[in-house]
This record gives sequence, structure tokens and C-alpha cells, in this order.
Amino acid sequence: MNLVLTGGAVLRNGSVQPIEMEISQGRIVSISSTLSKEGKTVIELHNHLIVPGFVDVHVHLRQPGFSYKETIASGTAAAAAGGYTAVCAMPNLKPVPDCLENLQEELNYIQKDARIHVYPFGAITCGEKGETIADFAAMAPYVCGWSDDGRGVQSDERMRRAMELAKTLDKPIVAHCEDESLLTPGWRIHDGAYAHAHNLIGNNPESEWRQVERDIGLVRETGCRYHVCHVSTKESLTRIRAAKAEGLPVSCETAPHYLLLCDDDLQDDGRFKMNPPLRTAADRDALVEALVDGTIDCIATDHAPHSAAEKSGGLHMSLNGIVGLETAFPVLYTKLVKTGIVSLTALLNALCVNPRRLFGLPGGEIAEGQPADLTILDLDCPHVIDSADFLSMSRSTPFDGWNVSAAVHMTLCDGEIVYQEARE
Ligand code: DOR
Repeated sequence: MNLVLTGGAVLRNGSVQPIEMEISQGRIVSISSTLSKEGKTVIELHNHLIVPGFVDVHVHLRQPGFSYKETIASGTAAAAAGGYTAVCAMPNLKPVPDCLENLQEELNYIQKDARIHVYPFGAITCGEKGETIADFAAMAPYVCGWSDDGRGVQSDERMRRAMELAKTLDKPIVAHCEDESLLTPGWRIHDGAYAHAHNLIGNNPESEWRQVERDIGLVRETGCRYHVCHVSTKESLTRIRAAKAEGLPVSCETAPHYLLLCDDDLQDDGRFKMNPPLRTAADRDALVEALVDGTIDCIATDHAPHSAAEKSGGLHMSLNGIVGLETAFPVLYTKLVKTGIVSLTALLNALCVNPRRLFGLPGGEIAEGQPADLTILDLDCPHVIDSADFLSMSRSTPFDGWNVSAAVHMTLCDGEIVYQEARE
């Protein structure tokens, strides 16, 4: 049956305008301020804002291989609750999708259990071991790009070869940048004041930006489309900004935690442990500035669920990774938009528009004929983040207990309601 969304609003040229919308067979079929409602299911939106569904280009859904941490079903339910209608899934799985046969296993789970669109990444190297290049050509029709996320590709020669192949197949290389020769074994957190005060082994920020620098040189040689994962340092930003100014096909993402937290906020709790680690206040501020000036294209959560036991070892022993799908919009809106630091339009560009543009994904426009992948936002919904409410199997977030002022009210994917807020 056709659906009519009534009483909602959209953002057009920076101003909020009332709208009614009819949805049929997964698409927006009509937009008007006066639609006939006869024989249709009508949903009243109470002046909430309708935006194109969010896209997260960096999530870990853990299946196949690690379904005790998260599954395609739980991860995509969490994504829908966070307002996402599409996610790009990282390949650090078991088996690693480095050939068509392994990828097929992941695709089967996606087809069976995903609540929203899931676009998998193929691995750059077999087993993400950094040695042999994966079977790019066989996987190309089914993947949104190639990544060895969780590890940097250490060999210059292999990264060059991967970029040459990706260029011929017209898909991006999506790089976790980490030069392992610049890391002290056993590092725990950023090599800064907290690490020094607490006798923890620090992670040198140069390990990130040196590899960004190397890769930009390889992009210049190969012409490959190249996207930097979870940028955390101001030095990486300087290099990415310069590469863009030079006209190289370089883009990047950062995560909400790098925009909103720094190593002054650290607590000896697994909720604060991720790779790259929280950096300095100067890095955090540079990231916000880069979001405003467009150097940062996307905000991706790096949703990285682990079991409660794996996150129970404090900063010292917990595994790297926090969940982010269900908190991204409320924390970003409250701390960056409501405070006037970032415009709502810039935030939506980073969550809806740029991810689709960079990865060639459908949708992103509220217009007749477009897919009905829509997120409905309640911008006046003060509440406290409580990880006990999460649909993700993991609860590990540094944002637990934060007061926020906005919420995702509803998410529609292919015209179906995949999430509806229980609060009110
Ligand atoms: O904190 C992280 N967790 N960073 C990564 O790069 C990988 C991820 C994971 O897979 O747990």
C-alpha cells in the first residue's frame, strides 16, 4: 500500500519548508503540499525534518567470523536506529573477502539478514596480511572499493600495484594509514600527556601521517581514487588539503569521537580505546576546522563492536574499537550544530551527500523518482544517551550518559519503515 508522509519538513537552500510525500514501491512518487490520502497509509511527522538516509562508509559488521561481537542483523538494526539507510562494511572478517568465494559468504549473510543497504569492501591483500594482492577483478562488480582496514599496507610496491589495479577497475582504495615501523610495540593510546602521566606506551601520530604522505605520492603516480579512513591528526589534514588543492582524487573521513574528544578526556576504560587513538585538543580542533572548510568529506563512525569481555580491560588491555552508529547524529548535532560551530547543511553533506558521491551509491536527493531512503530527525528531543538501549550487540561508547538534544525519529529504507523511535 502507498504511504503518505504528512506534516514533515525539508531543508531547501538553508530554510525549512513543509512537505508532503507519497511513497510507492520503494520510491518517492509524488511531492506536494496537498496530497490525496484516500486509501493510503498516512504517517504524521509532527514537523520533523526529512533528510536523505545517512550513509556510513566505515563500519564493522563482524559477520562472517565474529558473530559473538555483532551480526549483519544486529549491526544493520543499529544502523537503522542511527538513521542510516546504507553502510559500507569493512573486510576484517573470517574468511576475509579477498576472493569471490569468500566474498560470497558475506554477500549471502547480507542478502539474508540486512535491514538496510550494505556495500562490502574487498580486502586489498589476501587475508589482510599485506603480502599478496587480492583478486580485485573477480570482486569488482560486488564491492564499493578495497581496504585492509585494521592494518596499513606496509609495502610501497604492493600499495602502488593495488592502486594501479583499482584505477583500471574504477573503484577507490580506502586506506587505514599506519606505518608500523613508526610504532612502539605494545602501544596503548596517543603518545601525549595522558600516556606520559600514566606510564602507558604511546602511539606516535607520525605513524598515520607518514603513510598518508606516501599514499598521496602513489596517487600522483597512478591516478587512483583514494580515500583515507578515520583521519585523527592535524598533519594528515595538511597533506590531504594540499593534495585536494593539487587536484588529486583524494578524499577522507573522520569519526565523531575524533571531532568531539581528545586525550584530555581519556578514562581508564575500554570505552576510550580505539585505533587510531584519541589525539590532542589541537588535532580535534583541526578536524572540526577541516569539516567546516570541506577538507573532510565524510563523517564515518568506524562502528567496531567487541564483546563486553574484550572491552573490559581498561585502556591497557581492551581491544581497539567502539560502537558509533546509534550515537553519531545526536552527539554531532548537539555539540557541533546546536552550538553554531558547523551548519546543519555541512553536517548533512558529510552524512548523506558526500558518501554517496564518493562511492557512487544511489539516492541522496529528496525528489520524485528517487529511492525512498529517508531519515526523519527530531531536532528538539532532549535525552540522555543510554547504551543499554542500543540495538548493537556492543555497548562500548565514550558517549554513554551524554545529554543530547536531538534524535532520529524514523528511518525508511526502500520505502519500508526500518526504525521507529519508541521515545515520546
Ligand atoms: O579501533 C579500531 N577497531 N580500529 C580499527 O582500525 C579496526 C577496528 C576493529 O576492527 O575492531
